[in-house]
Amino acid sequence: ITVHVLNGPNLNLLGQRESTVYGSTTLVEIERLVREKAGSMGAAITFRQSNHEGHLVDWIQEAGAQGAGVVMNAGAYTHTSIALRDAIAGSGVPTVEVHLSNVHSREGFRHRSLIAPVSLGVICGFGPMSYLLGLDAVHRAMVERAKQTNP
Ligand code: DQA
Repeated sequence: ITVHVLNGPNLNLLGQRESTVYGSTTLVEIERLVREKAGSMGAAITFRQSNHEGHLVDWIQEAGAQGAGVVMNAGAYTHTSIALRDAIAGSGVPTVEVHLSNVHSREGFRHRSLIAPVSLGVICGFGPMSYLLGLDAVHRAMVERAKQTNP
């Protein structure tokens, strides 16, 4: 099982960015935690970040074409991007949406996600652990799917 962990805009600034909201862990440290957990689960990982919406669209399509799963922190694009939503829906890639912060305890404009309706589910509010829970969730869903296709 392969999982692509995709990070959207401004997540390259983690550690220095609004640390009262997002904590002090950098994206490099999150990548290390994710790789460690993936290793213990026997899953292969691709970990990427871009500030550009189109790159994220390309990577979602790539994951779909490979039969991989996606853990997606789309950052602010979560709340605005019809293109990301269409990429997930169009490629049929099993996706778990994750956020470091609890978006529901924040500003109203963060309460709506355009990608949640086409995702398997959403995990938010647990800091870097949101990624580990997301990885676990998409991995389990993919194992279940594989069992259903090849009983
Ligand atoms: C975020 C939440 C988004 O609302 C925000 O735009 C981000 C980070 C999070 O991980 O908590 O960039 O996705």
